[in-house]
Amino acid sequence: MIGKTMQDAMNDQINKELFSSYLYLSMAAYFEDRNLPGFANWMRVQADEEREHAMKIYDFILERGGKVALKAIDAPKTEWNSTLEVAEEVAAHEGKVTASIHALYELALKEKDYPAQVMLQWFISEQVEEEKNAAEIVASLKMIEAHETAVLQLDHRLSKRKGE
Ligand SMILES: [Fe+2]
Ligand SMILES: [Fe+2]
Repeated sequence: MIGKTMQDAMNDQINKELFSSYLYLSMAAYFEDRNLPGFANWMRVQADEEREHAMKIYDFILERGGKVALKAIDAPKTEWNSTLEVAEEVAAHEGKVTASIHALYELALKEKDYPAQVMLQWFISEQVEEEKNAAEIVASLKMIEAHETAVLQLDHRLSKRKGE
């Protein structure tokens, strides 16, 4: 049976995963509003995945004879200044989730909860993937931004050209 400390920590993690889902759904709505359906799709899929993460932990608690206790989910932001800003926030958010998964794993080691260790290893690998994907999108958006800056510089240079 799952220990009380581990059960409480897992219930907190369910809340974090559901908040992630809510945040990404809000980002999807922001992209829809800005007529960027591809980015909206990316965030919708992410939102679904985060709910699945919550359910994995939910089921794990139940399988181990524990009690699931859902908490209030904070309201996510609804406005951002740019696509890059959203992507950077996703990357930073995933970093925070990774830290909380690692803290859970440390607790599982301390409590000698072997089933929790096995279950959490899946999340540790998943976070490597999530952080990599977010970093790639941030890098691509930065390249686009650099390109736009270069185009503006060329535009400025061309504006100086005089007819002969
Ligand atoms: Fe997650
Ligand atoms: Fe995630």
